[in-house]
Amino acid sequence: MTAAAINGIIRTMDDVAMAAGVLRAGGLVAFPTETVYGLGADATSSSAIRKIFEAKGRPPTNPLIIHVADEPTARQFAASWPETASRLVRRFWPGPLTLVVPKSDRIVPEATAKLATAGFRCPDHPLALALLRAFAGPVAAPSANRSSRVSPTTAQHVREELGTRVDFILDGGACPVGIESTVLDLTTPTPMILRPGAITAGQIEAEIGRTVLFEGVADPAASASSPGQQAVHYAPSTAAYRFESADRFRVATWCREHLAESWAIVAIGSVDAEAMMTALPGMDPDRHALIEMPTSAREYARRLYATLRDLDARNLDTIWMQMPPDEPQWAAVRDRLSRATRAAGGVLAGEHGQS
Ligand code: TXA
Ligand code: MG
Repeated sequence: MTAAAINGIIRTMDDVAMAAGVLRAGGLVAFPTETVYGLGADATSSSAIRKIFEAKGRPPTNPLIIHVADEPTARQFAASWPETASRLVRRFWPGPLTLVVPKSDRIVPEATAKLATAGFRCPDHPLALALLRAFAGPVAAPSANRSSRVSPTTAQHVREELGTRVDFILDGGACPVGIESTVLDLTTPTPMILRPGAITAGQIEAEIGRTVLFEGVADPAASASSPGQQAVHYAPSTAAYRFESADRFRVATWCREHLAESWAIVAIGSVDAEAMMTALPGMDPDRHALIEMPTSAREYARRLYATLRDLDARNLDTIWMQMPPDEPQWAAVRDRLSRATRAAGGVLAGEHGQS
């Protein structure tokens, strides 16, 4: 290993072998996937896995996703592999779908927060696949951010989040999907979506029939079976509020009444962005921003985390996020926005001290 590569950002396939060597030696490698960057370690090594939890500041009760190069590898590290899993793999792997199944003892207990199951996923990204093939084993990888912060979608974000806590960063450019994989539990009587993602309930149901969406909040002391079970997650450090489209003029009014403070509004589409802009004379470009996001769910998702991260870096007083329509193709984006923000109701009504 060359000195220059230690803690370096690696850009070429040639360096994949070196990164696999770091994994084999029990180190941490951040790598791109189609969803977000992952922070990887050998899923068969307790000491390597403990480094992930340390680097992220992640509670040990939150299980990691196990990344594999293909279905045979997943089967090798699963205790059983239902027929539904094979059907889903044929249709969606490599891709943004994590399948929760009973795990074998070879996946160390630390990786799955001592659960008897593991979530397996085969990422659709050439660098990730090259790394997984070179390593030839299961790689546990949560998103490569500090716990509870916005997931990284570029190598630079990983560097900002983790600094020298990560041994290597493989740079594959910006992640094309932009939000985390769909997590599907195949151990429940009816398959349960623990976390919505780019693969929709409709697409899954077309392959295996009915699913249910998990919609609870877990006991924080228990092993969370999905990060979706914590009320606020993926959060920027700036106070961020969400609003439904019907409230856009109330938000514009709030902003007009708070021109002395700094804020940004993230609106969806040019029609709403321009309408809010018109309702906001007196905006000061140094303190106020109105950002127009795409009207396609796919494009929106790709830009969401980088947008939140950029806004957070401006140290504004308040961020306002317009919610997309409550429609199936927007389910994952609505889920992430709900976790990154607080409901605006009380603030718009003039109350303070919401938590
Ligand atoms: O797109 C993704 O899934 C990204 C990239 C890096 O692959 N990874 C990711 O990992 O989002 P992470 O750690 O941020 O989210 C993993 C979530 C966990 O919080 C967990 O609740 C759920 O997936 N999960 C993992 N293993 C599970 C299990 N055995 N049972 C239930 N849920 C599980
Ligand atoms: Mg995460």
